[in-house]
Amino acid sequence: MEKPLEETTKVTPWEVTTTTGIDYLKLIHQFACQPIDGALVRRFEKVTKVKAHPWLRRGIFFSHKDLNVALDAFERGEEIYLYTGRGPSSESLHLGHMVPFMFTKYLQDAFDAIVICQMTDDEKFYFKPTLSLDEANRLAKENTRDIIACGFNPNKTWIFSNLETVGGSLYKNIVLIMNQTSGNMIRGIYGLDLNNSVGQISWPCFQAAPAFSTSFQNVFKGDNIHCLVPMAIDQYPYFRMAREIAEKLGFKKPSTIQSRFLPSLEEAHGKASSTGGKEVIFLSDSHEAITKKIREKAFSGGGLTKQEHIEKGANLAVDVPYHYLLYFLDDDAELKHIAHEYRAGRMMTSEVKKKAIEVIWNVVREHQEARKLVTDEIVRFFMDPTRTFDRSRQKREPIEHLQEEQHIGFHFDPYFLPKENK
Ligand code: TRP
Repeated sequence: MEKPLEETTKVTPWEVTTTTGIDYLKLIHQFACQPIDGALVRRFEKVTKVKAHPWLRRGIFFSHKDLNVALDAFERGEEIYLYTGRGPSSESLHLGHMVPFMFTKYLQDAFDAIVICQMTDDEKFYFKPTLSLDEANRLAKENTRDIIACGFNPNKTWIFSNLETVGGSLYKNIVLIMNQTSGNMIRGIYGLDLNNSVGQISWPCFQAAPAFSTSFQNVFKGDNIHCLVPMAIDQYPYFRMAREIAEKLGFKKPSTIQSRFLPSLEEAHGKASSTGGKEVIFLSDSHEAITKKIREKAFSGGGLTKQEHIEKGANLAVDVPYHYLLYFLDDDAELKHIAHEYRAGRMMTSEVKKKAIEVIWNVVREHQEARKLVTDEIVRFFMDPTRTFDRSRQKREPIEHLQEEQHIGFHFDPYFLPKENK
């Protein structure tokens, strides 16, 4: 009999472990979310008048809660805003960290929306014992550069450090949330207990508060605006809690949209993590470093010998370079071609790796170039709470929609198997 998810896989904001590979459908059920299906992807395109992102179409942002409610509000002409964040635990971000930010930038353009980004120097101080508070704060600013480099609209984006900002209307909402949150709730949702520090136990209230627009008097002037939170799925428990509390406090329940985890180089079904000693690609890596990592470390589903590969073909499901192509090679036809040829053993592992290196290096190189242009002054601007924020929304002409079979979402078959093999 199939084992229940709890026995094989653990997904919390602090730990993702699995012995079987992550079963994302089970995770959706565990968190009481919904899969993003083709109909929803189509509706997204229709309402925003922006082509659906490959990550929506390919089931990488695969799960949501009330995304349709955010779309309803947007369709009625109401303002919505986006909230995401980053726990600054390392000097350089890795590619997996970028996925939510690249997608949030896309959503900012699609919804013409304000983005609020919380840099949680306090959180990382509580949860990473080796990190001093000042160092966490320094890393928050260092990481802010990487976030800005994703191309966020300066007049519609506020990035803030918790350590420097909590107070005023944000603190007021944190206090309201803390008052509604019992220790038992924290233990039940996060598995924290009385051995944890009070900082850790109270932490979830700090991450939940920015999902309510009244936290940001400086941006929203007290208006009650619907929030959409893009994130990797391990962060969802915070927003399950935020939604529960919203009801009690009379706030709007935030909508959410969750991604899978970008795999580490060694293992196609785990999660890239810079702290777990796994091999990952950093945004600061050189072309040589990326080439070496992919050639030597990326797990291959190809045959062990050329002969075996030609006879049996590749197992795409465990092939890490192929999984990276799923994320970063936008051209659907080319991806499908590689899937077919590689599986049939006509394309060699070295060719797929070469393609993966090219595609990844493109993303990293562009990022490095953009990051170089982010001066201290620009960082100060993005973090300045006192300026005016542009909440206007431009009219958009209808677009020509993608074809229906391109809108598959969660049910997208990443391996392009012929129908009879499914
Ligand atoms: N806890 C997140 C991290 O460790 C940072 C974070 C804060 C966040 N607020 C968020 C992530 C909202 C997603 C959405 O990186």
